[in-house]
Amino acid sequence: MEFFDLIEKRYSMRGFEDKEVEQEKLDKILKAAQLAPTGVNFQPFKVVVIDAKKYKDELNAIYSPDWFTQAPIVLCVVASKDDAWTRKYDNWNIAEIDATIVMTHMILAAEDVGLNTCFIGAFKPDEAREFLDLGDEWEPVLFTPLGYGNAEPRDTPRKSIDELVIYK
Ligand SMILES: Cc1cc2nc3c(=O)[nH]c(=O)nc-3n(C[C@H](O)[C@H](O)[C@H](O)COP(=O)(O)O)c2cc1C
Repeated sequence: MEFFDLIEKRYSMRGFEDKEVEQEKLDKILKAAQLAPTGVNFQPFKVVVIDAKKYKDELNAIYSPDWFTQAPIVLCVVASKDDAWTRKYDNWNIAEIDATIVMTHMILAAEDVGLNTCFIGAFKPDEAREFLDLGDEWEPVLFTPLGYGNAEPRDTPRKSIDELVIYK
């Protein structure tokens, strides 16, 4: 799909069909994660592919809306601050930004192959860490359901370009 059509078409999907995701589509989405740029190319992330049917109760304990577990797959990007680049001037660590770029790559790739997603940041972090069981180093940054959506978009108007852009 042409890039601008894709970003105009994408919206946060909050309802999914009970329909499997083809492996080749998932592979393409994971390739998009691999191709994501990260600070100094440190790649301080992992993508966890979660079977939403198998772990429905555990996932809904992390984030409760029904639609979170309607799709067959939930993806989570976890990041390691230990592995990520830190800006020397103020010790600012870039791990969460790297992870967010990775998730954005996957979300746009999903749209490109006809699948739908929704960034999820409002999950319970302690429950997520316990469920993922990857050790203290790996911080869960974002989740998304991944599947065939069946919900309408919410009304999410954007601010005007004038409000958002500063020429200096
Ligand atoms: C980093 C991030 C975290 C988000 N977390 C949640 C969330 O926890 N739950 C939710 O329903 N939507 C979440 N959203 C979706 C936003 O509400 C949504 O992107 C925004 O309202 C614009 O709507 P659109 O995605 O349909 O264009 C998140 C979006 C981003 C970018």
